[in-house]
Amino acid sequence: MCGIVGAVAKRPIAGLLIDGLKKLEYRGYDSAGIAVIDAQHQLKRLRVAGKVRELENALSTQPLYAHMGIAHTRWATHGVPSEQNAHPFISHDKFALVHNGIIENHSILREKLLREGYQFLSETDTETAVHLIHYHYTQMGDFLSAVRAAVNELEGAYALGVFSTDYPDRVIGVRQGAPLVIGKGQNENFIASDPLALLSITQQFIYLEDYDIVDLGLHAFQIYDRQGQAVNRETHTLSVGLDAIERGEYRHFMKKEIMEQPEAIASCLEGRITKSHVLPAIFGPKAETIFPQVEHVQLIACGTSYHAAMVARYWIESLARIPCSVEVASEFRYREMAQSKNSLFVTLSQSGETADTLAALRLAKKMDYLSSLVICNVPGSTMMREADLHFLTRAGVEIGVASTKAFVTQLTALLLLALTLRQQNKQADEKIDRELIEQLQNLPGLIQKVLQQDEMIANWAKAFTEKQHAIFIGRGTLYPIALEGALKMKEISYIHAEGYPSGELKHGPLALVDTSMPVIATVPGGTLLEKSLSNLQEVRARGGKLYVLTDQTHLFHQDAFADAHIIPMPSLHPLLTPILYTIPLQLLAYHVAVLKGTDVDQPRNLAKSVTVE
Ligand code: G6P
Repeated sequence: MCGIVGAVAKRPIAGLLIDGLKKLEYRGYDSAGIAVIDAQHQLKRLRVAGKVRELENALSTQPLYAHMGIAHTRWATHGVPSEQNAHPFISHDKFALVHNGIIENHSILREKLLREGYQFLSETDTETAVHLIHYHYTQMGDFLSAVRAAVNELEGAYALGVFSTDYPDRVIGVRQGAPLVIGKGQNENFIASDPLALLSITQQFIYLEDYDIVDLGLHAFQIYDRQGQAVNRETHTLSVGLDAIERGEYRHFMKKEIMEQPEAIASCLEGRITKSHVLPAIFGPKAETIFPQVEHVQLIACGTSYHAAMVARYWIESLARIPCSVEVASEFRYREMAQSKNSLFVTLSQSGETADTLAALRLAKKMDYLSSLVICNVPGSTMMREADLHFLTRAGVEIGVASTKAFVTQLTALLLLALTLRQQNKQADEKIDRELIEQLQNLPGLIQKVLQQDEMIANWAKAFTEKQHAIFIGRGTLYPIALEGALKMKEISYIHAEGYPSGELKHGPLALVDTSMPVIATVPGGTLLEKSLSNLQEVRARGGKLYVLTDQTHLFHQDAFADAHIIPMPSLHPLLTPILYTIPLQLLAYHVAVLKGTDVDQPRNLAKSVTVE
């Protein structure tokens, strides 16, 4: 979603702001812009309906020399992606403003401002904010007071960065529901939506809290809380190496992140398990008193994280014997529900900032839940700070919009949660637990083996480039993985794909199967094998093209499946198959997207961190 960068420095900042925007590209956007105050104290602005590199090109022909400024990548909500709707917005050549999030009462404010004689040049909700600040400034004559007065009138969840030509060495930042951090430098200070934007400049960050306003100067800054009181917030040192946010030898971040999955899982497990059991305190010291009381688990997430939650329901119910419900955050928030007794509320979010999931967490904290737990990949994110218990998945920075390594580490974390609840719920069976944990430790090696099938999967991909549709099927824990495989295909290759439980084929989707329909099936050995094979026969009988991931390759040498395309998979404990079988599906979507020439890392219309409802 939208990205904000702002700087007050002694050195020229245009290049720094552009570098910051490049680091925020992964969030997803469709236009970009920059505004500065130049040496003549004039407000200068450049905007493009397109990529940051186009803004950079525009800057090379019209350089902006300045020591302070703000820049933005816009993910369109109100108004089409166009130069006119791109940020920063300006009021009377005096104020410039960038915004992430939504201003819900913009129509009312717009009418009020039109009556006051303000002219609107865009279709955005954002433009109201800059005029409103200008309006209050004309009444009050003070920059900070004007921002405060405007913020008091703005409804919604958002973050702002704003400057005024009357104060050429100050940038004011506002956080109200959307993330904003301060980057502390030596005689220079910055704001950004995400620390990644500033990592090449500083490692010292302060995460603003909701309703905070920061007044940023060259040598100092001051944060004010909701009541307008000056407050201090903790400084965090981030030690992420720059190579973590570079593509290295890879053509795309997504491929790099797929290939990093063995080490991501190893790092997620490190220090958290022994040979026979999960260490008790890995969900925080408070978990040891809370978990034995848990009689129900409520899992909430969006997108790929929701698929991880769906897998976890199978694990929690079968391993810990605790009833478990799963719901997408945007549905959970807006319905009247019957709450289960002694329920643990768990949110899953790779970013820790997804607006709907965060709102669900905040809602749950007001309800009668036993406690809240977040499983997340971003330290310092809002959910990590607000949930009672937290678990960091340690997948490392994930830049590709389509989540891969964050997903498999979420699954790993959820399996650890199921095993922990099992231990606390006195369901543990030493032999089974030891076997599961041993296999979990072997998982990075097995994933490495599956990654070696990359070329074979790239060959499969050739058959998909002309396809309009695909069906993914699986049973049990592999049903959510079929959904995830289909989601990956949709997200980056723009092929319409559906995921189904294999047993549901005949209740609808079979009507779509003909000789042009590829059906991708996950078929591990085990109790459901025979049933899965019958489902594959249903597809074959209609001429559908079968693409099968299986550790039962011998079965597919028979005539019945002679024309099926097979990728051999290593055998492992049935409970661990969802993690392993995800890998080829990620690679398949990736190779199809590469062959189709789509923007793999930043697919159209999508965003990495969805900070609006
Ligand atoms: C967006 C991203 C997805 C992600 C989803 C939930 O749609 O593009 O990759 O799965 O948000 O994000 P979260 O950060 O809450 O896991």
